[in-house]
Amino acid sequence: MPDRIESFVASMAIQPGDRVLEIGCGHGIAATLVCQKLNTGRYVAVDRSLKMIAAAEKRNRAFVAAGIARFLQSTLEHLDLGEERFDKVFAMRVRLFHDQPELAHKLAERWLTADGALFVQYDEPT
Ligand SMILES: C[S@@+](CC[C@H](N)C(=O)[O-])C[C@H]1O[C@@H](n2cnc3c(N)ncnc32)[C@H](O)[C@@H]1O
Repeated sequence: MPDRIESFVASMAIQPGDRVLEIGCGHGIAATLVCQKLNTGRYVAVDRSLKMIAAAEKRNRAFVAAGIARFLQSTLEHLDLGEERFDKVFAMRVRLFHDQPELAHKLAERWLTADGALFVQYDEPT
């Protein structure tokens, strides 16, 4: 478990009832940490890669089976979650947040509740 993921998830102070959306979940490592903290809350992840979504879903199948987690293939740009809104939205190492931060923030923030919070971290993978 990479330290960077553990410390980033800790910084969000996930509460048991939080509704959480992750953009660009990759292998779903952060997903596991978030879902472990949820009780009545839920976690939704999107990634543009079907391969990554399949891997993340497999890693977190117990949370999917429990109705806590959902994994969807989509880009942030084309995401359609209807009326669903989230207390916390986060993205780690998703290049759009580095290359076009204003656009990326705008696209991510539309899924927040009125008092929700966006958490973004971008550093170059080593
Ligand atoms: C470098 S990986 C980081 C994965 C994970 N968040 C981490 O920190 O280990 C970036 C991930 O974001 C996904 N991604 C990149 N641009 C995206 C976009 N515009 N919409 C949705 N997913 C995207 C990629 O498919 C990839 O799985």
